[in-house]
Amino acid sequence: MPIKNRFAELMPDITEWRRDIHSHPEILFETHRTAALVAEKLRAFGVDEVTEGIGRTGVVGVIKGKETGSGRVIGLRADMDALPIEEATGLPYASKTQGAMHACGHDGHTAMLLGAAQYLAETRNFDGTVVVIFQPAEEGGGGGREMCEDGLMARWGIQEVYGMHNWPGVPMGTFAIRPGAFFASTDQFEITVRGKGGHAAKPHETIDANLVAAQIVVALQSIASRNADPVEQVVVSVTSMESSSKAFNVIPARHEMRGTVRTLSPEMRAMAERRLTTIVHSVAEAFGAEAELKYHRGYPVMVNHDEQTEFAAEVARAVSGDCAEAPLVMGGEDFAYMLEERPGAYILVGNGDTAPVHHPEYNFNDEAIPAGCSWWAEIAERRMPLA
Ligand code: NI
Repeated sequence: MPIKNRFAELMPDITEWRRDIHSHPEILFETHRTAALVAEKLRAFGVDEVTEGIGRTGVVGVIKGKETGSGRVIGLRADMDALPIEEATGLPYASKTQGAMHACGHDGHTAMLLGAAQYLAETRNFDGTVVVIFQPAEEGGGGGREMCEDGLMARWGIQEVYGMHNWPGVPMGTFAIRPGAFFASTDQFEITVRGKGGHAAKPHETIDANLVAAQIVVALQSIASRNADPVEQVVVSVTSMESSSKAFNVIPARHEMRGTVRTLSPEMRAMAERRLTTIVHSVAEAFGAEAELKYHRGYPVMVNHDEQTEFAAEVARAVSGDCAEAPLVMGGEDFAYMLEERPGAYILVGNGDTAPVHHPEYNFNDEAIPAGCSWWAEIAERRMPLA
């Protein structure tokens, strides 16, 4: 298995960085300590140029190869943020911050890309430029979008971009990837139904907001079951329902609902939004109530580009001997914004048989570090080979 020997030597350092970041989780754009640590390490490695404050708390590092005549520039991206979860691992290096935890392994992603940056800055065995990208707020904040809006791709002339995520259930140190749509679009909606409140014993004098809300929830199930082609993927989930009345004998005037819509194509996304809008207003009208809908478009569908996916898989096979076909994921991933701007690919690296991500007992598996770092380094060296 051609894991680079240098990463075996760097493994204790990278593991130490990972565990230090794990002990100090920071949420969304609040990744101040992590970003400072990343910038300090990149400078210590002799990275040519380090820029902080891109996408609020993102960090960008530039590493030039021994040659740069090819004019090629490749972006390698890791995420730095943690989740608002109370850690339950009992690890000696568990979170020191109450209510925050690295429950998605972004501590491992940051440490692995730092390790790769150190190796690439030491060796520079490529003809071109590597741009290492450390983003905040992957978990719902759109840090990747904000970095793109700050001109990330144009400012550093990035031509292709690659991302990696650890994945529980994929065997340790192996990889999985798929071309095309990979992670879902993640939209959110809020519905307020307004009826007419009154005495529970006199329902005929009211417009029951609860009854209308219940009808809307049932009707929304028809989007996935009757509007979407059965071979397409659409999820419409109402995740919160709250009535304005808590009493046993009062019919409420108002009912509020929240939920999420997930799809794997722009067509299904547009269809689901259109149908949801129609259903909410039409059902409310049918019962004499009024409905207000706030529909918020979140992360777009994350689409891997064919050529870069094939290349990423080839590198994964070289590193670990195999690269499996990854399943579709109905979760979101804000690397989607970077893949909208530049061709590239996003790969999963095995975390082994561990608790799932976003679980209070999850932990990034340090044994994945050599494979993950080697994949990053090989992406740069094989995509921009020296003559
Ligand atoms: Ni994650």
